[in-house]
Amino acid sequence: MSERVLVTSALPYANGPIHLGHMVEHVQTDVYVRYRRSIGDEVTWICAADAHGTPIEVNAGKAGMDPAAFAEKYRADQRRDFERFEIAHDTYYTTHSPENRKWAYRIYDALKAKGLIYKKSVEQLYCEHDKRFLPDRFVKGTCPKCGTPDQYGDVCESCGTTYDPRELLQPACALCGRPPVVRASDHAYVNLRKPEVHALIQGWVEAEGHLEPGVRAQVSGWLADLQDWCITRDPPYFGFPVQDPDFPGKFLYVWVDAPIGYLSSAEHHFAEEVPPERRLAPEAFERAWLAEGAPARLEHFIGKDILRFHAVFWPAMLWAAGLKRPDRMPVHGHLTVNGEKMSKSRGTFVNAATYLDAGLDPELLRYFYCANLGPGVADLDLSLEEFRNRINADLANNIANLASRVAALLQRAGPVEARPDAEIRELARRLLDEARADYLRLQLKAVVRGASEIAVLCNRRVQAGKPWENPSGEEQRALLWSVAKALLAIAMILRPVMPRFAGGLARAFGAELPRWDEGFDPFHGPVEVREKPPQIARLEARQVERLIAVAPEAKPARVSAAPSPAETATKVTARPAPVPGVIGYEDFARVELRVGRVQAAEPVPKADKLLKLSVDVGEAAPRTIVAGIAPAYPDPSRLVGLRIVVVANLEPRPLRGILSQGMLLAAGEAPDLQVVTVGEGIAPGARVK
Ligand code: MSP
Ligand code: ZN
Repeated sequence: MSERVLVTSALPYANGPIHLGHMVEHVQTDVYVRYRRSIGDEVTWICAADAHGTPIEVNAGKAGMDPAAFAEKYRADQRRDFERFEIAHDTYYTTHSPENRKWAYRIYDALKAKGLIYKKSVEQLYCEHDKRFLPDRFVKGTCPKCGTPDQYGDVCESCGTTYDPRELLQPACALCGRPPVVRASDHAYVNLRKPEVHALIQGWVEAEGHLEPGVRAQVSGWLADLQDWCITRDPPYFGFPVQDPDFPGKFLYVWVDAPIGYLSSAEHHFAEEVPPERRLAPEAFERAWLAEGAPARLEHFIGKDILRFHAVFWPAMLWAAGLKRPDRMPVHGHLTVNGEKMSKSRGTFVNAATYLDAGLDPELLRYFYCANLGPGVADLDLSLEEFRNRINADLANNIANLASRVAALLQRAGPVEARPDAEIRELARRLLDEARADYLRLQLKAVVRGASEIAVLCNRRVQAGKPWENPSGEEQRALLWSVAKALLAIAMILRPVMPRFAGGLARAFGAELPRWDEGFDPFHGPVEVREKPPQIARLEARQVERLIAVAPEAKPARVSAAPSPAETATKVTARPAPVPGVIGYEDFARVELRVGRVQAAEPVPKADKLLKLSVDVGEAAPRTIVAGIAPAYPDPSRLVGLRIVVVANLEPRPLRGILSQGMLLAAGEAPDLQVVTVGEGIAPGARVK
């Protein structure tokens, strides 16, 4: 039975162009939506630009623009990026819309009517120079736990500790560098701890089908210690002003109206963007798609970084307003590039436009992403080398090459009809079947592997059967016919992933792919080759390396606004961020660990956690290494002579004005921390593997 589904992807901030990290989510959603449509479901896919919040307000100011115009400009850029990438949302609206304003007030009022909003005074850091309260990402200072300087107000990138920005040592405003003060202000809080609300959220989280089991466990953990949620912000802010006389002058926090943007964008779509006969007035739209018990599913695709907003706060907001809760929330991990978090300073921050400008086909990236995506939150690495190998091995050699060889042999034969090769047919039938379930489960890597597996079998059989020696022999004809039919199965399986390629493949063997009904079986009827199957050119190293060489900064001025404080900050302190999850051996091997002999060790003035070491790592000159180990070594001279382990290929960075040329390994926590050592028998410079 076909279903009606409202699918959303998270709304990108209207603060920059679309990058390959966003693209993970939009490819995953696009593939899912295409699959659902291929089996006859009625799917509407909603996205929009998220226009509100402090960074957009600040960056618009720096660009000398009105924030609404600034957000509109990026919305237009983002839309174009998605279109060029063949990502086909049904709408790409904005959260700064009249519809969203109406919905945001409605939901605020519903929370209020349920008695869930209360006032609380909160102390926050405030910059008297910039005359604003500073969100966590607008404060930098020294980590109170490990002493690493230059950390944001919420989490230390070096030791992972999370804290309140007021705990930062030597805090500074990220806009002007001046020390902020602490100031109190009244804000609206949503009482999530109220038993009926807590129970509602917990019920939603635990219900089968909403979240993957691993994600569910994580969210359940948060619920054990559920905090109320602050939903207002002080000016200056770009957002909707709160209409409640209890909170004069406040704005709604961007994370309140952002998910509401899913609803308002859908309403706008059905009111204005569909053909007249499908149009729905707001009330009819709500009944058909959003009301409790509406005959439609609601599914949100999101990244793991925005899970709390979606899985904890959002169900409560919907419930308060009397709307249905989401039926499913697939959560994906983050994209890394060559094993590292995408970073502008390293050139691994790749915009969607950069990929296309390098002359690469978006379908290749779709294939690669799907080949590495499952339903879980594991991060996905775009290793340029693996990308190239994968495309060349699976697509160019295994599938496209098979198609063109078989097409060439069949072309001479005219229309062919033969008995199916049992082995090929069985495998294709089984994998067609499995692909349906795998698409629904978002087990996309299994889908892609299935398509490859069919091609591998066909290649092996063609190699063994040598049909070119006698293309009109009965066995040879049966083999060629069966392979052509198997290629139609591959086209069907890959259609959601690579719609253009799959369409071309099907047409080459004389078929239009039908709706993908259960039990679809291409092994009937004649095959006639009328056109050449689509080719996939092998990727050259040069071509993919352009992605990084043509990193946005290296390019001559593309129109772009001033960098956000966060971006500026990463430029100054560039250092690899911890990559969560499992790594491959190659990732480990990239870290160059060497033995170093400590020649001198002394405290760093005015930094009671830091020691400055001079370390011989077998190079012409010793290296200077600044390490936060002072609390564990009150007498630094104890370190002299030790053979320690140094990360030798770490980008140097300044610490307290001293350039640290590496990092040392240590175990345990201060003050019981110990520097990792090796015995006397190992020479300075020896590699640790
Ligand atoms: N505006 C909010 C979302 C509001 S949804 C009601 C936001 N915007 S974002 O532009 O920062 O991110 C949009 C989506 O892209 C999120 O789901 C996020 O997880 C995803 N990604 C952003 N960078 C990513 C990677 N490097 N890798 C994979 N996904 C990433 O958050
Ligand atoms: Zn300031």
